[in-house]
Amino acid sequence: MTATVEENALETARGLVEVCRTGDLEPGWGEAAWIEGTQVAVYRTQDDGFFAASHHCPGSGAKVMARGILGDKTIDGTRVPTVACPLHKEVYRLDTGACLSAAAAPLPVFAVHRLDDTLWMEAGQ
Ligand code: FES
Repeated sequence: MTATVEENALETARGLVEVCRTGDLEPGWGEAAWIEGTQVAVYRTQDDGFFAASHHCPGSGAKVMARGILGDKTIDGTRVPTVACPLHKEVYRLDTGACLSAAAAPLPVFAVHRLDDTLWMEAGQ
């Protein structure tokens, strides 16, 4: 993946790390990415929302969350994007990481910034 001069300048100025191009992600699916030595699950929802979370399921530590099942749930009248772990199907909010299906540990989620067709994460998240 090649970053442009402008992108490299942005990374330096804001402490951002390039994740991928938006076109690298298929709507309704996730992909695993290696970001600063950490496995991150990066998702693109059907309505072009972009999210990132730990690739490790908080339930077992299994590195499976990029293969999770994307969906949504209406909470207090607001639709929130979700991901279900592919193993035991615990459901997590993609915006906050809260587990919706059990009193379980949250899924660590990370801020994603979109600049044109490139996704960035803050360094050191
Ligand atoms: S491994 Fe993810 S819910 Fe059990």
